[in-house]
Amino acid sequence: MNCQAQTPMLLGVAAAIVLAFSLNASAADADAAKMLARENSCFKCHGIEKPKDGPSWKEVADKYRGKAGAEERLIKHLTTGVKAKFPDGHEEEHKNIKDKASPEAIKNLVDFILSL
Ligand code: HEC
Repeated sequence: MNCQAQTPMLLGVAAAIVLAFSLNASAADADAAKMLARENSCFKCHGIEKPKDGPSWKEVADKYRGKAGAEERLIKHLTTGVKAKFPDGHEEEHKNIKDKASPEAIKNLVDFILSL
Protein backbone atom coordinates (compact mmCIF):
# COMPACT_ATOMS: atom_id res chain seq x y z
CA MET A 1 0.00 0.00 0.00
CA ASN A 2 1.33 3.45 -0.77
CA CYS A 3 0.99 6.52 1.40
CA GLN A 4 -1.84 7.99 -0.60
CA ALA A 5 -4.03 4.98 0.11
CA GLN A 6 -3.22 4.97 3.81
CA THR A 7 -4.03 8.59 4.59
CA PRO A 8 -7.83 8.35 4.28
CA MET A 9 -7.82 5.19 6.36
CA LEU A 10 -5.82 6.87 9.14
CA LEU A 11 -8.20 9.81 9.08
CA GLY A 12 -11.08 7.40 9.52
CA VAL A 13 -9.43 5.82 12.55
CA ALA A 14 -8.73 9.24 14.04
CA ALA A 15 -12.36 10.30 13.54
CA ALA A 16 -13.57 7.11 15.25
CA ILE A 17 -11.33 7.78 18.23
CA VAL A 18 -12.52 11.38 18.54
CA LEU A 19 -16.13 10.23 18.31
CA ALA A 20 -15.63 7.57 20.98
CA PHE A 21 -14.15 10.13 23.35
CA SER A 22 -16.86 12.71 22.81
CA LEU A 23 -19.62 10.15 23.36
CA ASN A 24 -17.94 9.06 26.55
CA ALA A 25 -17.65 12.60 27.88
CA SER A 26 -21.41 12.98 28.32
CA ALA A 27 -21.92 9.68 30.15
CA ALA A 28 -20.82 8.81 33.66
CA ASP A 29 -17.40 7.24 34.05
CA ALA A 30 -18.51 3.80 35.22
CA ASP A 31 -15.04 2.59 36.18
CA ALA A 32 -14.36 5.62 38.37
CA ALA A 33 -17.83 5.32 39.92
CA LYS A 34 -17.35 1.64 40.78
CA MET A 35 -13.91 2.32 42.19
CA LEU A 36 -15.26 5.06 44.46
CA ALA A 37 -18.08 2.74 45.54
CA ARG A 38 -15.61 -0.03 46.32
CA GLU A 39 -13.39 2.33 48.32
CA ASN A 40 -16.40 3.36 50.40
CA SER A 41 -17.78 -0.17 50.88
CA CYS A 42 -21.07 0.74 49.20
CA PHE A 43 -21.21 -2.80 47.82
CA LYS A 44 -21.45 -4.15 51.36
CA CYS A 45 -25.10 -3.02 51.33
CA HIS A 46 -25.85 -2.58 47.63
CA GLY A 47 -25.50 -4.67 44.50
CA ILE A 48 -25.73 -3.11 41.08
CA GLU A 49 -28.33 -5.73 40.12
CA LYS A 50 -29.05 -7.41 43.45
CA PRO A 51 -30.54 -5.85 46.56
CA LYS A 52 -28.71 -6.48 49.85
CA ASP A 53 -29.54 -4.46 52.97
CA GLY A 54 -30.07 -1.52 50.63
CA PRO A 55 -31.87 -1.51 47.28
CA SER A 56 -30.01 -2.57 44.14
CA TRP A 57 -28.80 0.46 42.23
CA LYS A 58 -30.85 -0.65 39.24
CA GLU A 59 -33.96 -0.37 41.44
CA VAL A 60 -32.83 3.10 42.50
CA ALA A 61 -32.41 4.11 38.83
CA ASP A 62 -35.91 2.75 38.05
CA LYS A 63 -37.40 4.59 41.00
CA TYR A 64 -35.98 7.92 39.86
CA ARG A 65 -36.24 7.48 36.09
CA GLY A 66 -37.79 10.57 34.54
CA LYS A 67 -38.06 12.38 37.89
CA ALA A 68 -36.77 15.92 38.13
CA GLY A 69 -34.15 16.62 40.80
CA ALA A 70 -33.06 12.98 41.13
CA GLU A 71 -29.38 13.79 40.84
CA GLU A 72 -29.58 16.48 43.49
CA ARG A 73 -31.56 14.24 45.80
CA LEU A 74 -29.07 11.40 45.61
CA ILE A 75 -26.11 13.73 46.07
CA LYS A 76 -27.82 14.88 49.26
CA HIS A 77 -28.38 11.24 50.22
CA LEU A 78 -24.63 10.61 50.01
CA THR A 79 -23.41 13.78 51.66
CA THR A 80 -25.71 14.67 54.54
CA GLY A 81 -26.06 11.51 56.64
CA VAL A 82 -29.82 11.07 56.05
CA LYS A 83 -31.60 8.31 57.93
CA ALA A 84 -31.70 5.04 56.00
CA LYS A 85 -34.30 2.40 56.75
CA PHE A 86 -32.97 -1.17 56.83
CA PRO A 87 -34.99 -4.29 55.92
CA ASP A 88 -35.25 -5.30 59.58
CA GLY A 89 -36.90 -1.96 60.31
CA HIS A 90 -34.08 -0.25 62.17
CA GLU A 91 -32.77 3.09 60.97
CA GLU A 92 -29.28 4.44 60.93
CA GLU A 93 -27.46 7.28 59.24
CA HIS A 94 -26.65 6.45 55.64
CA LYS A 95 -22.99 6.39 54.71
CA ASN A 96 -21.69 9.90 54.02
CA ILE A 97 -18.84 10.29 51.53
CA LYS A 98 -18.55 14.06 51.51
CA ASP A 99 -15.17 14.07 53.21
CA LYS A 100 -13.77 11.23 51.15
CA ALA A 101 -14.59 12.31 47.62
CA SER A 102 -14.71 15.48 45.54
CA PRO A 103 -18.09 16.91 44.49
CA GLU A 104 -17.26 15.88 40.90
CA ALA A 105 -16.54 12.28 41.94
CA ILE A 106 -19.75 12.08 43.98
CA LYS A 107 -21.76 13.50 41.07
CA ASN A 108 -20.16 10.95 38.75
CA LEU A 109 -21.16 8.11 41.09
CA VAL A 110 -24.74 9.40 41.28
CA ASP A 111 -24.91 9.81 37.48
CA PHE A 112 -23.64 6.25 37.12
CA ILE A 113 -26.32 4.89 39.49
CA LEU A 114 -29.06 6.84 37.67
CA SER A 115 -27.82 5.57 34.30
CA LEU A 116 -28.35 1.88 35.22
C1 HEC B 1 -24.54 -0.09 55.98
C2 HEC B 1 -25.25 -0.32 54.74
C3 HEC B 1 -25.12 0.70 53.64
C4 HEC B 1 -23.97 1.20 53.08
C5 HEC B 1 -22.53 0.93 53.47
C6 HEC B 1 -24.39 2.06 51.98
N1 HEC B 1 -25.76 2.08 51.88
FE1 HEC B 1 -26.87 3.05 50.46
N2 HEC B 1 -28.57 2.48 51.40
C7 HEC B 1 -28.65 1.60 52.47
C8 HEC B 1 -30.05 1.42 52.83
C9 HEC B 1 -30.55 0.52 53.95
C10 HEC B 1 -30.81 2.20 51.94
C11 HEC B 1 -32.34 2.37 51.91
C12 HEC B 1 -32.67 3.65 52.60
C13 HEC B 1 -34.14 3.91 52.70
O1 HEC B 1 -34.91 3.47 51.84
O2 HEC B 1 -34.53 4.57 53.68
C14 HEC B 1 -29.84 2.84 51.04
C15 HEC B 1 -30.20 3.67 49.99
C16 HEC B 1 -29.32 4.12 49.02
C17 HEC B 1 -29.71 4.82 47.81
C18 HEC B 1 -31.14 5.17 47.40
C19 HEC B 1 -31.59 6.45 48.05
C20 HEC B 1 -32.99 6.83 47.64
O3 HEC B 1 -33.31 8.03 47.74
O4 HEC B 1 -33.78 5.98 47.21
C21 HEC B 1 -28.56 5.10 47.13
C22 HEC B 1 -28.41 5.82 45.81
C23 HEC B 1 -27.46 4.59 47.93
N3 HEC B 1 -27.96 4.00 49.07
C24 HEC B 1 -26.14 4.67 47.56
C25 HEC B 1 -25.07 4.28 48.35
C26 HEC B 1 -23.68 4.55 48.05
C27 HEC B 1 -23.17 5.27 46.83
C28 HEC B 1 -22.96 4.02 49.08
C29 HEC B 1 -21.46 4.09 49.29
C30 HEC B 1 -20.93 5.43 49.43
C31 HEC B 1 -23.88 3.41 50.00
N4 HEC B 1 -25.16 3.60 49.53
C32 HEC B 1 -23.50 2.74 51.16
C33 HEC B 1 -27.58 1.01 53.12
C34 HEC B 1 -26.24 1.27 52.87
